[in-house]
Amino acid sequence: MLKIFQTRTIIFLLFTMATLALKSQTPTNSGISPADKSKIDNLLKTMTLDEKIGQLSLFTSDWDVTGPTLNSNYKNLIKEGKVGAIFNAYTVDYVRELQKLAVEESRLKIPLIFGYDVIHGHRTIFPIPLASACSWNLAAIEQSERIAACEASAEGINWTFAPMVDIARDPRWGRVAEGAGEDTWLGCRIAEARVKGFQGLNLKDNNTILACAKHFAAYGAAQSGRDYHTVDISQLSLYEWYLPPYKACIDAGVGSVMTSFNEIAGIPSTSNKWLLTDLVRKDWGFKGFVVTDYTSINELVNHGVARDNKDAAMLSLNAGVDMDMQGSTFLDYLSDLLKEKKVTIEAIDNAVRVILEAKAKLGLFEDPYRYCNKERQEKEIMATENLAFARKLVSESCVLLKNDKQTLPIPADVKTIAVIGPLGDSKKDMLGNWSAAGQWEKCVTLVEGLKNKLKGKVEIIFEQGCNANDENRSGFAAAVKLAEKADFVILALGENGWMSGEASSRSSIDLPGVQNELTAEIMKTGKPVAVVLFNGRPLAITKLHSLAPAILETWFGGTEAGNGIADVLMGDVNPSGKLTMTFPQNLGQIPIFYNAKNTGRPYRTTDPNAKYVSRYLDVSNDPLFPFGYGLSYTKFSYSGLETKVDGNKIQITIKVANTGIRDGEEVVQLYIQDKVGSITRPVKELKGFQKVLIKKGETKTLVFNLTLDDLAFYHPDLKKFWEPGEFVVYVGTNSAETISKTIKVL
Ligand code: NOJ
Repeated sequence: MLKIFQTRTIIFLLFTMATLALKSQTPTNSGISPADKSKIDNLLKTMTLDEKIGQLSLFTSDWDVTGPTLNSNYKNLIKEGKVGAIFNAYTVDYVRELQKLAVEESRLKIPLIFGYDVIHGHRTIFPIPLASACSWNLAAIEQSERIAACEASAEGINWTFAPMVDIARDPRWGRVAEGAGEDTWLGCRIAEARVKGFQGLNLKDNNTILACAKHFAAYGAAQSGRDYHTVDISQLSLYEWYLPPYKACIDAGVGSVMTSFNEIAGIPSTSNKWLLTDLVRKDWGFKGFVVTDYTSINELVNHGVARDNKDAAMLSLNAGVDMDMQGSTFLDYLSDLLKEKKVTIEAIDNAVRVILEAKAKLGLFEDPYRYCNKERQEKEIMATENLAFARKLVSESCVLLKNDKQTLPIPADVKTIAVIGPLGDSKKDMLGNWSAAGQWEKCVTLVEGLKNKLKGKVEIIFEQGCNANDENRSGFAAAVKLAEKADFVILALGENGWMSGEASSRSSIDLPGVQNELTAEIMKTGKPVAVVLFNGRPLAITKLHSLAPAILETWFGGTEAGNGIADVLMGDVNPSGKLTMTFPQNLGQIPIFYNAKNTGRPYRTTDPNAKYVSRYLDVSNDPLFPFGYGLSYTKFSYSGLETKVDGNKIQITIKVANTGIRDGEEVVQLYIQDKVGSITRPVKELKGFQKVLIKKGETKTLVFNLTLDDLAFYHPDLKKFWEPGEFVVYVGTNSAETISKTIKVL
């Protein structure tokens, strides 16, 4: 009896001790432990004003400068305790060298955070974000960021300036390449996946890195698609379309937020108190830190809201900025501004606190070198499994835009394949923009990918034919001659990698240079031809579409581009990618996106000549390829749409059959239209999707479960709720080809 009692007591005591231990580790509401909190409290008491301001300053190293100015004095500043974080520095040796300056030579030994633009991979470069979004594979997207975080953190980096979650509807804007496309709902899901991938389960793990939701806010709505240009949108549009992906990042626990370069309705984001304090901190409960974009504080002078850099520093700190990227304005002026009572010590302390908290969350106080591990650097960077995963993601990101007469996959009995075009064997272009520490020399081109795959079986011959972006036709003759020798021709066309990304807007989004002409010449040979497109934005390829029987959109695939594309071209992978941004017929249709409003005078295709309706005289309203579009080597047919409304739940059931000749994955998309609202609603809104493998001859029944919250939208008073009435449920293979049913929700 006594024994049982003793055993029970011991178990009870152990349990109580474990609970107490857990309690003492329970993070505070900012996500840090009480021990870290008291460390930070103590530090704040010990720090001089200069040291505090130092924590608010971020400088680039002189390695990979990603903006206009460089402060070459950064090493001395680190020693003086005047730097909180460094970006554009990586490798174990270099990060160690800089971290040593902070933790051995500065007075308080506060470790630095190391940031970098790990946008689509670190050393193993994955497809550009717009491309991986087209995979509609959230698990794969998350995994790509997991790998990126593992590689980056193995080289000293612990903070990435990603994900970029700006919704964009204008393909002239070069930065559409960095985002997930035009849709807000999908953008939110992808944003969550990317944050989870980077940050993992515990930021203290040495293979997880702090993410940064950018560019806050609405950077993607730049007027005329010109980078850094003005944004002027209604509050309602801001709430409904542009803000949710940033909020999704915050709900997923993102550690930092970056302000955008643009203004919104007259107020630049970097001095926008409503955005940086009221919305993100008070309404959304953000507990991390706000960093500016590169010299954005100084740019307040150009914007015309600050007289000089000092004024700009005041506006930004008071608006809620915690860290100045590269502008040195906090370092130069906060101390004087405090003396002049233009900023408060509370505002400075609050900013210091959130930055120190980030350092604590990353475990840097315990071990400032925890991300500097030579063994990991050697083992994990570009590991075989990372490359294998990258190859898979390349093939999943490809979107088959056209495939007349089953031109693709390339028949297995061809003896010679001619690759023709400026992008066919160009390693440098494969990385696309923001390729972090990716090495272009290690990229696999399309020619190399085909050679790797078809070694000894098929001869691969190559001619460039022309450059991507000039008028030189002198290579046409050789290209035609080469095509004549081949059984199959692949035209590798598109944009150079540098033609999208930051500061890379285009006023024409046609296929640049003389590539359409080259295509016309090659088509005259009568050979079977497929176009493989490389580009960082939707292009207006109506001309190309009229010339070529098959077009495979591959974007910029990164390190494994050629291998992944070859898998699709030869039919080992059945393409399943779907566009996340509409392809217009021509530039004049821009902005064109699937979730537009009906207008009071909608154009109906049943009355093609109608006047006084919302249309153009010279082009239809249809896009060339709609949102959600992408073909497969097999065929899918949709039937049996059923809906059930039960209390708060809406259940939608659909049968999808693979009626073609091979197994394939289909992205089954669910859209809703609210037929009558107190304010106008879009003609369709994506509310769900499922990516499923359906074997040839097989039919799968898929069930989607929505709740009434999925019908909610923002109202003019910025409250979000749904309104009873009729809703059309659409299910289909893309946003334009759907079957539908009307439901009543009362
Ligand atoms: C400017 C870009 O807008 C931003 O996306 C990037 O993270 C920073 N430069 C740092 O390189």
